[in-house]
Amino acid sequence: MVKLDWEPLVVAAHAAQKNAYAPYSDFKVGAALITANGDIFGGCNVENASYSATVCAERTAIGNALVHGQNNPIAMVVLTDADHPIAPCGTCRQVLAEFCDDIPILLIDGEGRRRLTSLSELLPLQFSGEDFQDA
Ligand code: THU
Repeated sequence: MVKLDWEPLVVAAHAAQKNAYAPYSDFKVGAALITANGDIFGGCNVENASYSATVCAERTAIGNALVHGQNNPIAMVVLTDADHPIAPCGTCRQVLAEFCDDIPILLIDGEGRRRLTSLSELLPLQFSGEDFQDA
């Protein structure tokens, strides 16, 4: 596989983070994914006064890609202003697993520190539609 150039994804995630709607937590998250044909889609968290209606940055990035007819992420960046790299929440891990078995995920904190992980590391023993569709 060709070595992935993370920097355009990092730029897109920073741009998305600027548009985060996070008036309740003030915790702005930016995400960006790249699809198999090289297109990049950003996402930001979108909070709500009814807190449980909040949607995370990772999921809005996936929705953004789907809106553009693309459902095949091959890598994702997630960044925040936190003092350590923040990993996607459990719901986002499961939603990512709907569209890929395993992808590299680069986590970046507010100081620019990076931690490279992967969906299979974050979500081993995935549950998917294949587990029940032929049951
Ligand atoms: N958040 C994300 O956007 N991604 C995650 O993986 C973890 C949490 C957002 C949701 C909420 O707007 C804020 O961070 C605090 O939980």
